Amino acid sequence: MLLRIAVQAKGRLFDETMTMLSESSIKIESSKRTLLVPAKNFPVEILYLRDDDIPQAVASGIADVGIVGENEYEERQEEADIIKRLDFSKCRISLAIPNAKVPEYDQMGLKWFDGKKIATSYPGILKKFLDKNGIKSDIHVITGSVEIAPGIGLADCIFDIVSSGSTLVSNNLKEVEIVMKSEAVLIGNKNICAEKKEILNELLFRFDSYKNAEGKKYVVLNIPNDKIAAATELLPGMKAPTVTKLETEGWSSLASVLEEKHFWEIIGKLKQLGAEGILVMPIEKMIL
Ligand code: PRP
Ligand code: ZN
Repeated sequence: MLLRIAVQAKGRLFDETMTMLSESSIKIESSKRTLLVPAKNFPVEILYLRDDDIPQAVASGIADVGIVGENEYEERQEEADIIKRLDFSKCRISLAIPNAKVPEYDQMGLKWFDGKKIATSYPGILKKFLDKNGIKSDIHVITGSVEIAPGIGLADCIFDIVSSGSTLVSNNLKEVEIVMKSEAVLIGNKNICAEKKEILNELLFRFDSYKNAEGKKYVVLNIPNDKIAAATELLPGMKAPTVTKLETEGWSSLASVLEEKHFWEIIGKLKQLGAEGILVMPIEKMIL
């Protein structure tokens, strides 16, 4: 029995989804990108779809689980559950208006959108937001290149995905209201059988091990014995650092785990304590 995972065939989530699978030691032959590809060494198969179609595919049981943007899941309102937030492909779904209209907007606030034509691929999420705020706009649905709509006179403004913001900048638009924050999520069919659930649990375990190791480094260093306590405070590790006596009198070797984002700050402090011979190594997986 194979657990069938629906994945975006290309686009925003594709690369990171594939990285997560391969870092979880799930080998998928990428050469022949047919619609349905079984993994070589794990009981899953990958179903490549357009992201808009993934929530429905999961709800109907065509796929058991799917990896999709939360915005897409929210928009489709299909009967599927969010099993896990995956912490990648983060973005916002925002209202953006032409730069020239910003002074007007600053005066009026959300009321500015009353009677305006808004281009979007997410009419459901937008309508909910407008209704909640008592605003009546004309929602104009387009499936791609939403950002060019105001420039060509197709709409007054847009409601779209913003990630780096560079698409808005190059189209002279300004993000004025964040309606929703989104990231990749793993969604699941509501009636997965016990056997597939077991495969799913193993999959989740592997995703976790990969995520836990992400951004973490293994550090080994030499430290004077009277500084071990201070160094331990800087490097708490998973439980506590490993301390081994060195042959050199008065010195120990200390090994621990360090978060990359605090790397330089902590290394600096360790050097001040007198740490020497600091080795930093990548961590591939981390089982807590
Ligand atoms: C989204 C959105 C913008 C772009 C914004 O498109 O429609 O075009 O990303 O990203 P930025 O803020 O980093 O410039 P996406 O790549 O998801 O493709 P699609 O909307 O055409 O499916
Ligand atoms: Zn786009």
